[in-house]
Amino acid sequence: MKTALITGAAEGIGLAIARRMAEAGCRVVLADLTLSTVQARAAELGPDHHGIAMDVTQPEAIEAGFAEIDAVFGRIDIVVNNAGIGDSHLPTLEQDFARFEQLLRVHLNGPFLVARAAAKRMIAQGGGAMLNISSIAGIVGLPRRNAYGAAKAGVAAMTKSLACEWAAHGIRVNAIAPGYTRTALVQTLIDVGRLDVGRLERRIPMGRLAEPAEIAEVAWFLCSPAASYVTGSVVSVDGGWTAFGDSGDASA
Ligand code: NAI
Repeated sequence: MKTALITGAAEGIGLAIARRMAEAGCRVVLADLTLSTVQARAAELGPDHHGIAMDVTQPEAIEAGFAEIDAVFGRIDIVVNNAGIGDSHLPTLEQDFARFEQLLRVHLNGPFLVARAAAKRMIAQGGGAMLNISSIAGIVGLPRRNAYGAAKAGVAAMTKSLACEWAAHGIRVNAIAPGYTRTALVQTLIDVGRLDVGRLERRIPMGRLAEPAEIAEVAWFLCSPAASYVTGSVVSVDGGWTAFGDSGDASA
């Protein structure tokens, strides 16, 4: 049975990936900021699964989390770097530098530290699969989301370099670049008026936002044996967002 660690698994895309991996027969380690929440989510998935508190901006918390995985499961086969926070959506001249740095700590430093801790174990085991969650914001420019976009482009670049470095060890490293996905993070932005859902949908060739389960399906494929020859790929799962280059609306 494979052991899969998902960061930011308490909500949204991370939770959907945890569910999909559990359905596929993995033992899932759900990691997030609040222990009681991930323990409850793990229990909902069934007795084989485990919740751990892991703030991906804290190197000691990552080391402690992996030590717990070593003790409980003795191996790690799949790692999904999913934990994330939203950008400020403020004009750049009004942005706070501390917030900029925090975005990079969560979205870029975190995946680096988690990937490195996982690779030490996967190299010793003889292989594994890693998946990073990038974004359309790492491919095209989203105004006022420069820290987020920089971090997500960085994650895509790091995915490729790690894939090349670790291929000889049997470790595959891929990324997904999701488009707008209906999670709590996006719903809050819609509710406070920072995202206009009608405008968004017209910008998407498929005319709708993604559901978390649609991202999770591709996540499982990329981490599964079915993707045995796929590494260093950044797969767009965006309803056609980044394919669209025409003027005007992409859908009715
Ligand atoms: P969400 O807000 O629903 O879930 C994010 C989870 O990450 C939360 O449970 C949160 O507690 C956790 N988290 C935040 N900081 C953390 C930290 N320092 N350490 C550990 N966990 C932490 O967000 P959503 O929408 O599910 O996003 C998941 C990932 O997908 C993020 O990396 C996000 O940037 C990315 N993404 C989301 C898109 C969307 O439209 N929802 C589109 C493209 C990418």
